[in-house]
Amino acid sequence: MPLDLHALTPDQLRARRTLKWTAYPADLLPMWVAEMDFPVCREVTAALTRAVAAESFGYPSPVVHAELADALVEWQAQQHGWTVDPAGVHSVGDVMHGVDLAIRYFSGPDDPVIIPTPVYMPFFDIVRLTGRPQVHVPMSWDGARWTFDLAAIDAAFAAGGRTVLISSPHNPLGRVFDAAELAGLAAVVARHGGRVISDEIHAPLVFDRPHLPYAAASPEAADHSITVLSASKAWNLPGLKCAQVITTNAADTAAWKAMPYWETVGVSTLGMEASIAAYREGGEWLAQVVATLAEHRDLVAQAVASWDGVTTVPNEGTYLQWLDFTRLGLDVEPSAWLVEQARVLVNPGVPFGGEPRRFARLNFATTRSLLDEGLGRIEQAVRSRRP
Ligand SMILES: Cc1ncc(COP(=O)(O)O)c(C=O)c1O
Repeated sequence: MPLDLHALTPDQLRARRTLKWTAYPADLLPMWVAEMDFPVCREVTAALTRAVAAESFGYPSPVVHAELADALVEWQAQQHGWTVDPAGVHSVGDVMHGVDLAIRYFSGPDDPVIIPTPVYMPFFDIVRLTGRPQVHVPMSWDGARWTFDLAAIDAAFAAGGRTVLISSPHNPLGRVFDAAELAGLAAVVARHGGRVISDEIHAPLVFDRPHLPYAAASPEAADHSITVLSASKAWNLPGLKCAQVITTNAADTAAWKAMPYWETVGVSTLGMEASIAAYREGGEWLAQVVATLAEHRDLVAQAVASWDGVTTVPNEGTYLQWLDFTRLGLDVEPSAWLVEQARVLVNPGVPFGGEPRRFARLNFATTRSLLDEGLGRIEQAVRSRRP
């Protein structure tokens, strides 16, 4: 039986006691951090209920890890036709921890990391914490979409870069990269003997074309990439702390397995049980969520098209919309202006690498009535600004 994805009220969402609905005053409509306002997949909550009844609160077991690796391998084969060796699946507590380890163990201490921007803001912090220099390469607009600037990435490698860190599908630009874009990037990276770390946490949340795993884009891509992903974004489980790293060649698999145990610790037992259920039994729920998100994506696009002074980019995946307020000519950050004028909370664009006073990111994974409310509030603020 399909769930009513629009059933939860603000009081119920606040009762979850998680970040999105509790960090700010209640009169602010939260359309910021990447949590979804939908009821969780019943197959996942059933697995968690079973695990709680069994008091599965001990340390994570290699037996459960092996089951999770098999579930992920099956999911990748079904969804993307990608054959993953279960020996190359490694558990970590969250995606950013996996990215951190991939940088520290697979590049030298002075090797610059190339980051196409704008991008999910913790990328900058994580790279800074590894001590590696970072080189920001703006994504380029090809007239229809934001894509990798291969000439600039090539130049960054020529200047000493060793690793590119990508978000694919892309947060916050909503891009789902096609085979030619990924193969183009792979060719540049291979030419310089570099590496790609591909954060594919949003892979199940695509609307118009299938996600293509970077490592499956070409044989050279599998040779030089490390993929980091999790069921946590698509099934809305980030507090359960469970992500996977996929290595796609024997040397990388051996190097990952050789890491000290304390580096990789952090995955939770309950998160593993929930992720197995998501990959094995969560497909129907996910299809319903993706269909609803696609409707919401269209509603946001229609609304923005009617707002004089605000523009956006076509969204192909993720439930995050990158909004451009440049033409409104604000003298403050658009997110601060929306708090004041619309009582709507979105993410500011600057931490993603966007220029000041131009961008904000809106989360549309909410109920239809809350989406209408949020878009209505923003529309009123925009109208009152433009006579
Ligand atoms: C691209 C991207 N990577 C990583 C994360 C966070 O993942 P985790 O909580 O597993 O570190 C997010 C969260 O929104 C994200 O958008």
